[in-house]
Amino acid sequence: MRIREDAQSSTMKNLVALLCLVSAHIGSVFSHNCYSCLSKNSTNCNETQTECIGDRCMTVCQYFYNGKKLYKSIYKGCANETLCGAEGSDLMEIVKFRFYVKCCNGDLCNTDRYQLPKEDPTLNGKTCPSAFCKDTLEECKTEKEINCTGSMDRCYDYRGKVINPDETVEKYSLKGCSNSDTCKYNFDCAIGIVELHRESLIC
Ligand SMILES: *[C@@H]1O[C@H](CO)[C@@H](O)[C@H](O)[C@H]1NC(C)=O
Ligand SMILES: *[C@@H]1O[C@H](CO)[C@@H](O)[C@H](O)[C@H]1NC(C)=O
Ligand SMILES: *[C@@H]1O[C@H](CO)[C@@H](O)[C@H](O)[C@H]1NC(C)=O
Ligand SMILES: *[C@@H]1O[C@H](CO)[C@@H](O)[C@H](O)[C@H]1NC(C)=O
Repeated sequence: MRIREDAQSSTMKNLVALLCLVSAHIGSVFSHNCYSCLSKNSTNCNETQTECIGDRCMTVCQYFYNGKKLYKSIYKGCANETLCGAEGSDLMEIVKFRFYVKCCNGDLCNTDRYQLPKEDPTLNGKTCPSAFCKDTLEECKTEKEINCTGSMDRCYDYRGKVINPDETVEKYSLKGCSNSDTCKYNFDCAIGIVELHRESLIC
């Protein structure tokens, strides 16, 4: 009787050990860790670790000058494949918005510090109306034109109400140059900028 019990419990132990081995192996294939943090108004990111599905991590860096304040923001976490590699750039009179989404492979690979790709100052031949109005959703009328540079090969016309990274709420009516990723992703990559209402967006 005693012998049988021992045999049974040792079989159990082996089974448990095997299950642990299998689940640890599955775990390493289907999940991994990434650094995780969010700084809406700082390039310093206080990192913790988070478990992610897949084997990729992401760092998003953002530069936003809203005509009054400059916000540099950084986010780290699990990769969102839809956003990987996105690089947004626009200049609307004095408002400037840029973002960059960098993804990487492997455990805790998103060790990047705040960094945006260098701006290309080369004129690209495109010109756009340039305007900046605040506290209104009406069209911001302008005679002014700017020369677009680098990847900003289209005109942007935005009117809407957003929450800034410092939680203040502002209505913007803007015109300027932008690139395709800004038009494609809009606010999808934005850190700390939440769109409350969109009056219009023409790209
Ligand atoms: C960083 O995060 C840790 C854990 O959440 C917290 O205890 C610490 O105060 C944070 N440091 C800063 C500078 O925010
Ligand atoms: C735009 O470029 C044209 C041609 O290079 C130049 O004549 C014009 O002054 C520029 N305009 C602005 C606003 O920089
Ligand atoms: C954002 O950061 C800047 C520079 O560190 C600082 O001067 C400003 O007060 C901060 N704004 C908010 C709302 O925290
Ligand atoms: C990834 O980004 C896309 C596009 O912005 C968004 O629709 C989707 O919800 C995001 N997925 C996750 C898991 O955050």
